[in-house]
Amino acid sequence: MAVTIKDLLQQAVGLLKENWKNHREDPSKEAGLLLSWVLKKDLGYLYAHADTRIDNDKADLFLSCVRRRARFEPFAYITGECEFMGLRFNVNPSVLIPRADTELLAEAVIHALGQRSPFLTQPCFSLTPKAAYRALEIGTGSGCLAVSAAKHVKNVRIDALDISEGALKTAHNNAVYHGVDQRINFMRGDFLDKTVRLYPPYDIIFSNPPYIPTAHIPGLMPDVRDYEPHTALIGGEDGLIFYQALADRVSQLLSPQGLLAVECGYDQAQRVALIFSEKGMETLTLRDLSGIERVVLARSE
Ligand SMILES: C[S@@+](CC[C@H](N)C(=O)[O-])C[C@H]1O[C@@H](n2cnc3c(N)ncnc32)[C@H](O)[C@@H]1O
Repeated sequence: MAVTIKDLLQQAVGLLKENWKNHREDPSKEAGLLLSWVLKKDLGYLYAHADTRIDNDKADLFLSCVRRRARFEPFAYITGECEFMGLRFNVNPSVLIPRADTELLAEAVIHALGQRSPFLTQPCFSLTPKAAYRALEIGTGSGCLAVSAAKHVKNVRIDALDISEGALKTAHNNAVYHGVDQRINFMRGDFLDKTVRLYPPYDIIFSNPPYIPTAHIPGLMPDVRDYEPHTALIGGEDGLIFYQALADRVSQLLSPQGLLAVECGYDQAQRVALIFSEKGMETLTLRDLSGIERVVLARSE
């Protein structure tokens, strides 16, 4: 016999609580969000229709999603989608799940390219106005940054590099979905390999590179450590390998008065800014909503 929404939620919360001892997530909230996704109804509907019976196929699908979530599989990999800058992105285990913190970098890039970024209230560098801009993204992943930038800024063309074929395929699909694929050139390559083919000069280079020090990986939350691609996480022994590689090549890649915009880890901003200022660049940091210096901007002479 079909079960009610209330029964299903109770069963799910029980399952999640049993598996998630000491885990930071809230079982009731996660169960509600998963059921809301399976039924394509909002949370308000679930509360208002707690006694509504759900057919067995939907109930089975919901419980299989709950079992996956109980094993710490990220919510976004289960649903295959997430939101970034108000846009919907497809995600899968070949890409890092876009984080809310990274929206600060997207806003800084959009601002630098001359568009209003309503949530950016901090001083930020911007490029001299131009009819057409050229940008490079290093480590595009799901394409969330390149696609958001292209969506908001009509006069930019972006070369988006990633080492992962699976990530590039996902990013390309997301660019097609949002109608910006004609202005993003997805390129496979290893940025740490000095012979990788790029097409400078760029007005702006932006990146949310892998920045977790290798030794910190075992201590990450299981949903990140056991499910997200390690190539998207590990930034070498000190987590700074990509910033150093960028600084070493900035003079070949960036046009005069060009900009670098990068995200970094919660305690890395000052070290990252120093890496760029040692190359003679002027730097600025931006704080995320928790007050952490999360984005470093650097301007070439
Ligand atoms: C932290 S993720 C960022 C993904 C996406 N831009 C975002 O902000 O959500 C870093 C990305 O860099 C890519 N990557 C890792 N090593 C790379 C390398 N050596 N060259 C180019 N891309 C690399 C990973 O595959 C991953 O997609």
